[in-house]
Amino acid sequence: MKLELVRGMRDIVGDEAVAQRVFKERAASLLDSAGYQEVILPSIEYYDLIAAKAGQELLDSLYEFMDRGGRKVALTPELTASATRLYVTRFRDAPKPVKLWYVGPCFRYDEPQRGRYRQFTQLGVEVFGSSSPLADAEVVFIAASLLKSIGIDTWLKVGNISFLRALLQDSGLEGSGMLSAIRSLDHGRYEEVEGSLNARGKKIMEELMGSRKGDLDYWEGIAESELPSAVHGLRRLKKVVELIRAMLPAVEINVDVSFARGLAYYTDFIFEAYSHSMGEALLGGGRYDNLVEELGGPPTPAVGFATGVDRVALLVKAPEVEKVALVVPLDEDSLGKAGKAFSAVSGRPGRHEMVPGPMSARDAIERALKGSFHYVVLAGNREGPEEVVLRDLSSRTQKTVKLKELAQAL
Ligand code: HAM
Repeated sequence: MKLELVRGMRDIVGDEAVAQRVFKERAASLLDSAGYQEVILPSIEYYDLIAAKAGQELLDSLYEFMDRGGRKVALTPELTASATRLYVTRFRDAPKPVKLWYVGPCFRYDEPQRGRYRQFTQLGVEVFGSSSPLADAEVVFIAASLLKSIGIDTWLKVGNISFLRALLQDSGLEGSGMLSAIRSLDHGRYEEVEGSLNARGKKIMEELMGSRKGDLDYWEGIAESELPSAVHGLRRLKKVVELIRAMLPAVEINVDVSFARGLAYYTDFIFEAYSHSMGEALLGGGRYDNLVEELGGPPTPAVGFATGVDRVALLVKAPEVEKVALVVPLDEDSLGKAGKAFSAVSGRPGRHEMVPGPMSARDAIERALKGSFHYVVLAGNREGPEEVVLRDLSSRTQKTVKLKELAQAL
C-alpha cells in the first residue's frame, strides 16, 4: 500500500495547524460582530454551475468527474459560485444587502509550490444587493481587518476591470477572446495581447504598462476623449479608493488601472492584498454584478473576496500557550488518583496534560522539564488516597496537596 501523499495534497500539523485555527477563530468573531452570516457550503457542485463564469484558467484546473448517479460534478475550486447559488435559491427575497461568509476546502489542479496547493482552504465574504461604492470599501476594510487581526501588515492593489474591458472591446475583442486577453494581462504577458489590439488600443496599452498606472485623473482624461465607455468605471474607482483611504488611513494602497484578475465574473472594482514578506496574493476579490442574474436570479449587484487560509497561516506565528502542569501516575495503583488530579485541573487557563504512565518520579520530572511545564503532579501511593505531590519545577520545591485543593495550588 502506498503511504506517500497524493501530489499537491498535504497534512497540516503542529504550529501551522494552530495558526490556521487561530486565523479562522479571529475571522469568525470579527465577521460575526460586523453582521455577516456564516454559511457552510458543499465541496461538490454541478460542473455547469462552476463552469458558468469561472474562466478558462479555473476550468483547466478543475477536479471534475461523473458521480455514481451519472451527474457531471466538480470539487469546488472557489466558493463564490456556490455562495451565489445559495443566494439565488435561499436569500433572494431577504432584505438587502445580504452579507454572507464562509470557510471551506477548495481544489485546483495547480502546479504545487509553497503557498500553492491542490487542496487549500478559502475564507470568504460575499455581499449581495448593494451597488454602493461603500459596499466595495467595506469589503476591502473587512479584508484588511482580518489580516490585521493576526498581525499581518498588508498593502493593497486596487483597480477596475471595466477600463481594460472597454479597451479590449474597442479593439473588437468579445467573449472568450476578451477573457483570454484578460488572463494574459493578469499574468503580465502583454505580448500575447498586443497582436489583437487596434492602433488606439496599442497606444493606450503601452502607456498603461508604463509609470502612470495609478494616475486616475490622467486616465479619466484619456477615457473622456478616447474611450467613453471606460469613464464610469474610472470615476467609480476614484470614489471607492477615496472611501477605502478614509476607512484604512494607515494602509498602503497601490492603484493600478492595468490590473486584471483571472476569474471571468468580475465586472467592475477588483482588489488583492499582499504582505511585504510574500509575493503571492493573500486574498483577492471584486465586484461581480451579473453573476446572480446569470445563474437565474433577479439582477443583483454583488461584491466579495476570499483569502487563502493556508497562505495566511504561513505568515502567522502560532501563539505560545503557557504550560502549567503535567500529571503523572507513579504506579498502577495510582492510575485512578492521577485521573482525578487531571480532571481537577483540566480546562483551567493554560495547558494541563496527563501522561497515562505509570513512570518513575525521576522520569516524570524529566519529562515535565523537557516540556517546559511549571509543575509536575505526581500521583503515587506514599501519600493519602486523596493527596498528590505537587512539584514546582522552577523553585525545585514540592509539597503534598489534597486533590480538592490542587487547582488552587497551581
Ligand atoms: P482567487 O484570487 O482565485 O479568488 O483566490 C482567492 C485566494 O485564495 C488567493 O488570493 C489565495 O490566497 C488563495 N488561493 C487560490 N489558489 C490557491 C492555491 N492553489 N493554493 C493556496 N491558496 C490559494 C477567488 O477564488 C474568488 N472567489 C474571490 C472572490 C470572492 N471574489 C469575489 N468574491
